[in-house]
Amino acid sequence: MKRNILITGGAGFIGSHVVRLFVNKYPDYHIVNLDKLTYAGNLENLKDIETAPNYTFVRADIADLDEMRRIISEHKIDGIIHLAAESHVDRSIKDPFTFARTNVMGTLALLQAAKEYWDTLPEGYEGKLFYHISTDEVYGALELTHPEGIPAPFTTRASAGEHEAYGEKFFTETTKYNPHSPYSASKASSDHFVRAYHDTYGLPTLVTNCSNNYGPYQFPEKLIPLFINNIRHGKPLPVYGKGENVRDWLFVEDHARAIDLIFHKGKVADTYNIGGFNEWKNIDLIRVIIRTVDRLLGNPEGHSDGLITYVTDRLGHDMRYAIDSRKLQAELGWEPSLQFEEGIEKTVRWYLDHQEWMDRITSGDYERYYDEMYKGR
Ligand code: NAD
Ligand code: TYD
Repeated sequence: MKRNILITGGAGFIGSHVVRLFVNKYPDYHIVNLDKLTYAGNLENLKDIETAPNYTFVRADIADLDEMRRIISEHKIDGIIHLAAESHVDRSIKDPFTFARTNVMGTLALLQAAKEYWDTLPEGYEGKLFYHISTDEVYGALELTHPEGIPAPFTTRASAGEHEAYGEKFFTETTKYNPHSPYSASKASSDHFVRAYHDTYGLPTLVTNCSNNYGPYQFPEKLIPLFINNIRHGKPLPVYGKGENVRDWLFVEDHARAIDLIFHKGKVADTYNIGGFNEWKNIDLIRVIIRTVDRLLGNPEGHSDGLITYVTDRLGHDMRYAIDSRKLQAELGWEPSLQFEEGIEKTVRWYLDHQEWMDRITSGDYERYYDEMYKGR
C-alpha cells in the first residue's frame, strides 16, 4: 500500500533508527523526515539511506504552524510518527523555556496542522494516525524497595511478576502522571495535548512511553556515549550523586521495531509502555561500560576504574524508572530481541569503530553537513 509518512526528529538518535527501518522495510512508503537540526540533529546519522528514492528530508521547526500546514498538505501525509523534541534532562534544568516551546507548542502545532489537513479530505480521519513518542519519565520516579538492598546488577531481566513478589513497583499504562523535571513536565504536557485532540476532535492518535534507550548514533551528552568516549580519551567520568539511581535500558533498534509494530497494529487512542525489564543502577552500568571498553581496547582489567569521579547530583534527580511492558507483549507480541550483554557489547564496539562520527560531533563539523549536502538541492 502506498503511504506518505511524516517522521519528525528523524535526524536525532531514535528518529534516525526509525527512519532507516521504514525507508528500508517499506519501499512503497514515502518517508518525509522533518527535523529542525538543532545541536541534537545530525544528518550524518542517515548517510546510508539519504539517496533512497522513497526518502525526503525537510528542515523545519515543528513549532512553526504555517510550515507544518504546508509540509503536511504538500506531501499528502497520512501518518505521523512524532519524535522531534528537546530530550536532555540536564539542558531542561538550565533552559526550561526551550523545552516548553518545542515539546509542548511544537506538538500542538503538529496536531493542529494534521487535524486541519485531514479535515479537508473526503475520507476524513480514516486510515490516518498521529503517533506520539513519549517517555517513561512522565510517570515520575519510583522508590527502591528491594528488601535485600540492591543486587548488582540491580535486576537481570526478571519478569515483572518476580519483582512484584519483592514489592517492587513498575510504571504501567494507568500510572498517574507525576513529572518532576522540566523535560518530563513538557513531555507530559505534550502527551495530554495528543490525547485531548483525540477526545475533543476524534483525531486518531496513539501514545507510547518508553524507557531509556541506548545504542549507535546517540548524542554524546547522554550517559552511555559520553562515558564510552571519555574512557577512550582517559577523561573523568562524572557520576551524579552516589551513582545509585536506577534506569531501565532498552536497545534502540528494539524501540524502533516496537514503533513499527505499534504504528501498524496498535489500537487508536491507546497507550503502550515499552521497556526491557532491564534495570541497572548507574554505577553498575558504568562498571560494565568501563570493563567492556577496556577489554575491546586491549587495556588490562581495571585500567580505567580510576576515571570514576563522583560529582554534585542533578537537581531533582529521579531515583528509579521501571517500565512494565506486559501489555505490549500480550497484545502485540513484542519483546526485546537483545540481551543486555549483547546490546552493550554491540554499542561499545559501534562507538569505538565510529570515532570519526564522534570526532565530527565534538569538533562541531557535523553541523556543516546540511549546508554542504542539502542546500540548493
Ligand atoms: P534526540 O535529542 O537525539 O533527537 C531529537 C531530534 O529532534 C533532533 O534531531 C532535533 O534536531 C529534533 N528537534 C528538536 N527540536 C525540534 C524542533 N523544534 N523542530 C523540529 N525538530 C526538532 O532525541 P531522542 O533521544 O532520539 O528522542 C526522540 C524522542 O523519543 C523524544 O520525543 C524523546 O522524548 C523520546 N524518548 C527518548 C528516550 C531516550 O532514551 N532517548 C526514551 C523515551 C522516549
Ligand atoms: P541520561 O543519559 O541523561 O538519561 P536520563 O536522565 O533521561 O535518564 O542519564 C542517565 C542516568 O545517568 C541518569 O540517572 C543521570 C546519570 N548521569 C550521570 O551520572 N552522569 C552524567 O554525566 C550523565 C549525562 C548522566
